[in-house]
Parts: sequence; structure tokens; C-alpha cells
Amino acid sequence: MPERVADAPWLVWLLEAIHRGQSGLLQLLHGLGWTGDVDGQPAWPWTQRLAGEYLLLDQGQARQLVWSLAAVIATLALLVLAVLWRRRRGYSLCLLGLALAAVVLAPWPSHQVVLVQAGPASFHRNPLPFTDVAIVRGAAQYQRLCLQCHGAAGNGQGPDAAAQAVWPPSFIGPLLWRRADGELLQAVRHGVRDGQGHTTMPGFAGQLSVDQSWELLHFLRAQAAGQLLNATGNWAQPIALPDMALRCHRSDKTRVRDWQGQRLRLVSLADAEGLPPDPRMVTLWLPPAGQQLPAIPEQVDCIVTSAATARQALGLVNADAAMRDVQLLADKAGWLRARNSRAVGNWSDEDLLCRSTQVPANPGTPVAEDSLTRILRLMDVEPVLYIKGGRVHGVR
Ligand code: HEC
Repeated sequence: MPERVADAPWLVWLLEAIHRGQSGLLQLLHGLGWTGDVDGQPAWPWTQRLAGEYLLLDQGQARQLVWSLAAVIATLALLVLAVLWRRRRGYSLCLLGLALAAVVLAPWPSHQVVLVQAGPASFHRNPLPFTDVAIVRGAAQYQRLCLQCHGAAGNGQGPDAAAQAVWPPSFIGPLLWRRADGELLQAVRHGVRDGQGHTTMPGFAGQLSVDQSWELLHFLRAQAAGQLLNATGNWAQPIALPDMALRCHRSDKTRVRDWQGQRLRLVSLADAEGLPPDPRMVTLWLPPAGQQLPAIPEQVDCIVTSAATARQALGLVNADAAMRDVQLLADKAGWLRARNSRAVGNWSDEDLLCRSTQVPANPGTPVAEDSLTRILRLMDVEPVLYIKGGRVHGVR
């Protein structure tokens, strides 16, 4: 999927236009008071929405949609001309005829491809930042309300799974990265029904606040990323370095997200003394939990101040509760890209855990690159892109 998106910029443009058009319409309806709120954001009033998801799989249909949209725009232009030239009746009738023909003859794509089921929360966005605190809070709710069906690892193998009419899905796959956040929220808060209207999953709006529900979705992705790493050896679906509280030599930086635009290296060594400094990235030190916060060592730029919470959240993302001697690299947009758990030392191509293609050779520079340089270069040249809820996500 990522290769396909990167190779077809016009499709990216089309998906974004489809999304923005509908969000704009929703904002307008909400502004006019024609649609209310649900779970704190404007409610989508229809049971269907235009979707880009399937257009990606069927570029022929996507092309048809582009032609049809062009026909609609041409029609509007012809109608305006017809009104302007209404004195010259012959011309304006002719223009009206042309306008009608443009709409009728446009190669409309099949509606099954362009329309998908939608609900009131389809266009909701997760308003909470992806932080260690949110992930850990979500984890507690998951143990309380979801684990018995979805299983301790989120693989759909909970003790009550077999008793359900439909088997609960495994989150260790693309599900959480494909469905729109709002539609996942809707499932969690208002339940899921099958084609006959029977409840297949109960809703939890009575037991969870809206914020707790969004935190749960952050947790689900963090856990699924770690389980995918476990199962495939890669972050097969992209995951961001969670935002965490920091103390830095530079006092204007107090959180991971304040460093957006820089490459980040997070190290969880027990002792940061032996760490060679590297000017190509910002180094964050995750100190051992449970001890008083040490002073910021010279070799690093910042220390993570919420060490216990951060260890728990990163433990999920890395499927490694101990988080001992781990080094993580995040790209300039904040996505986790590489991981080295062999204490300090050399990097290898296998440490690049989030990539869209095979590691390409380096055609440009004649000088041999060391592995870390190569990983940093690939992080920069291959931005993360994926399609979620018909929208292109990634570059942030
Ligand atoms: C009683 C068992 C049960 C419990 C408890 C439960 N689920 Fe589910 N869940 C299911 C089943 C079954 C499905 C599949 C429903 C379907 O596809 O018809 C599902 C589907 C989902 C989906 C996918 C929805 C989609 O649109 O594809 C999400 C996300 C989800 N559950 C999250 C949660 C969360 C979060 C909790 C805890 C707050 C939870 N579930 C608790 C049984 C359960």
C-alpha cells in the first residue's frame, strides 16, 4: 500500500479532496445548526460517506471519479454561463443542453466502490495527543472492559471470545490502521451490529468517558504495534514515538513533540555515561524507573522525567517490558523507524523496522556508508504514508 500511494500523487490528491470536501460540508452544516454533536464533535448526518479506501484498489474507478468530478465542475461553469447569457436564449439553451449531457455522459464510478457505511462519528478525530500517559490510562481500561473478549495481547483470543456470535477481531493486523478513528470510537462507545441489527459487540459509552475511549484507541495501537513487531520482526504498521515529558539542557523543550522536525534517538541504558554523542540527532535518555531523577548527563540532550509511565508505554510499543539497553530512532515526523537492543554498538540494516520497500543500495555517494548513516538517510528519503479511513496519513 505505501508504495502505491507514493507512486500515485494524483490519488493522494483525490483522497484528500474527497475527505476535505466532506469535512467542510460537515462543518458548514454544524455551523448552520443543521446537525448536532455526538461524543464532543459534529455528527455526520448520513449513513454513508464517500470513501477513498476502495479507489486505491481500483484505479480505473478512481479515474472515472476524476472525470465525473471534472464533468460536474464543467456543468457548473456552463450553468453560470447560461445564466449570464440568458438574454441570448438560443445560446443559453444550448449551454443547458451541454451541461445536462456532461452530467449524464460522465463515466460515474460504481456506487459500491465510492460509498461506504458511515456513522455519526465517522469524521471525528482523536483530540488527545499520543502520549505515554494516555497509553497507560488506556491499558487500565482495556484490562477492565475489553480483555475478556479481545485477549491479553489483543489477538481476539480472550476467555469469552468463543461465546460471542461473531469472533472478536485480532488487532494484530492492519485493522486499527485502516479504519477511521471516529469509526473505531463509534464501535467502542456505541457497539457493533450485524446486517440484521443484532448486537455483535456491546457499546461502552456508559462505562467510559469520551476521553477514556480515545485513550483506549491510543493504547490499542501501541499494543498492536508491539505485537506486530513480535509476530513479523517489523513495525509492519507505522507507530509514532509517544510524546513524553522531558527535562532538557535547552529550557524551551519540555516534551518530545517540541523536537518535531529533528531526528530523535531514545536510549534506555542504565547509565548514559558511555554513550558516544552524535550531532545528527537529538538524544533522549530514558533513565531507570523508581529512582530519583538524575541530573541531565552532558552526552544527552534531555532525560525523560516520567520514566515509569514512559517505560510502560514503550514496553508495549516494543513488546519488551524490560526495555533494557534499547535504542530507538524516530524520524523527523516523529515515526519510530529503527531499534537496536544490543546495547550500545553498531547498527545494521535489519534494525530498520519501519520501511516500505527493501533497503535500496546507495547509488548517489561513492563512499561506503556505515549502517547508521544509511538508516538515517533512508528515514529521510522514505517518509511514512498510509491510508486510514480513506485519508492519507503519515507525514505530520
Ligand atoms: C463481549 C465481548 C466484547 C467486549 C467486552 C469487547 N468487544 Fe470489541 N468486539 C467484539 C466483537 C465480537 C467484535 C466484532 C464485531 C463485528 O465485527 O460484528 C468486536 C469489535 C471491536 C472493534 C472493531 C470494530 C470495527 O469497526 O471493526 C474494536 C475497535 C473493538 N472491538 C474494541 C473494543 C474495546 C476497546 C473494548 C473495551 C472497551 C471492547 N472492544 C470490548 C467483542 C467484544
